[in-house]
Amino acid sequence: MVCLGNICRSPLAEGILKSKTYNFKTFVDSAGTGAYHEGEKPDSRSIAIAKTHGIDISSQRARKFSVKDFDEFDVIYVMDHSNFENVISLARNEADKAKVKMILNEVFPGENLDVPDPYYGGDYGFKNVYTMLDRACDVIAKKINSNEKY
Ligand code: 4NP
Repeated sequence: MVCLGNICRSPLAEGILKSKTYNFKTFVDSAGTGAYHEGEKPDSRSIAIAKTHGIDISSQRARKFSVKDFDEFDVIYVMDHSNFENVISLARNEADKAKVKMILNEVFPGENLDVPDPYYGGDYGFKNVYTMLDRACDVIAKKINSNEKY
């Protein structure tokens, strides 16, 4: 799960998908394309909205996306167009590129919709982002839990 700062959207996506997957061979992690918040906890507003849904993301720490992640992960979900461009620019080959997907395409295939960055907005933005990620992670988790190839 990749966003810009790895403190608002992708930590939520990580926590939500972990809460829905019960397949022990699945490893979910998140990262940011920027390093501004490296080592920090998720934004307090992300921690709070996750908590209202019974998910604790407070022990996550931000890290920067690295080229090695292409080797370690089968799928790389990005939150918006800008994340997509940033991650694709690090891809070494077509196989790396093929791993990068816009997360809302799981709900709205082919529409390339963004999960909006809630950082500069109010709490409503975080609620909205939670709802979008919850729907996307439902679809992803169903595939993982049924062992469907995706
Ligand atoms: P995120 O939100 O990409 O969802 O973690 C942001 C957090 C911090 C910044 C930008 C986006 N920032 O510029 O500091």
